[in-house]
Amino acid sequence: MSKKLEGKIAVVTGGSAGIGFGIAKAFAADGAKVVITGRRQEELNKAVVEIGNGTIGIQADASNLADLDRVYDTVKAQHGRIDVLALNAGFYEFMKLGEITEAHYDKTYNTNVKGLLFAFQKALPLLPKGASVILTGSIAGFRGIPAMSVYSSTKAAIRSLVRSWILDTKGLGIRINVLNPGHTSTPGFNNLLPAAAHPGVIETIPLSRLCTPEDLGKAALFLASDESAYINGIELDVDGGAAQF
Ligand SMILES: NC(=O)c1ccc[n+]([C@@H]2O[C@H](COP(=O)([O-])OP(=O)(O)OC[C@H]3O[C@@H](n4cnc5c(N)ncnc54)[C@H](OP(=O)(O)O)[C@@H]3O)[C@@H](O)[C@H]2O)c1
Repeated sequence: MSKKLEGKIAVVTGGSAGIGFGIAKAFAADGAKVVITGRRQEELNKAVVEIGNGTIGIQADASNLADLDRVYDTVKAQHGRIDVLALNAGFYEFMKLGEITEAHYDKTYNTNVKGLLFAFQKALPLLPKGASVILTGSIAGFRGIPAMSVYSSTKAAIRSLVRSWILDTKGLGIRINVLNPGHTSTPGFNNLLPAAAHPGVIETIPLSRLCTPEDLGKAALFLASDESAYINGIELDVDGGAAQF
């Protein structure tokens, strides 16, 4: 059976762990040459080996515009184009209303909105006709979560940006969609919520289990491949039904 991303070049930000790692792994397994980014070199080195298929790791902070330039310069020199762009790196932490700090606001918005916006804009010259752009949103973008208001609003912003970007890119033949994970077992999630709290979360999910990076890899592969060739500007919830009630 032919692979869905054979001959394609994919870039995944925050691809060294968690959801980004699941996405990068799914892309590479289906034939893509993958470039991942992350801030910790050691994590990148490990992930590059595990993902395989000639994956390249570039140490870069998704909220730093100079780092983004460096990533795209390297991708341009190595591959010349980006067929699949998965902007996944994001920051989340709890911060109660009344205690929200400027540092929390800046870090959350600089990573999730500013960094993502410029990562997309700077990638435009490298995106050929037929390219697929996948932005990691969250079901938090349309639901209330206690002590997560700033984070949730960044994910709503991503969803909103896409509505205009599909109009701004009309005629280029590129597709842009939002992938909304539900509660996903990742290093970041497990750090936010200790294992003892997981049963209470699972209780709220109709499929009675946490989402996995593999679940998101499969959904991202669908959005990346020609199987979703006429799907543009949507948000795809991969949440076990958690956001439906
Ligand atoms: N897990 C969930 O339940 C869940 C639910 C909905 C949405 N999401 C979204 O999914 C995305 C990934 O979350 P996750 O749970 O997989 O996180 P994670 O377990 O913390 O993994 C994050 C990955 O991204 C990298 N990363 C983090 N900040 C970065 C930055 N500023 N620049 C470059 N790389 C960065 C990390 O490596 P370094 O630390 O080395 O940089 C790591 O490889 C985020 O956008 C998050 O908002 C997660």
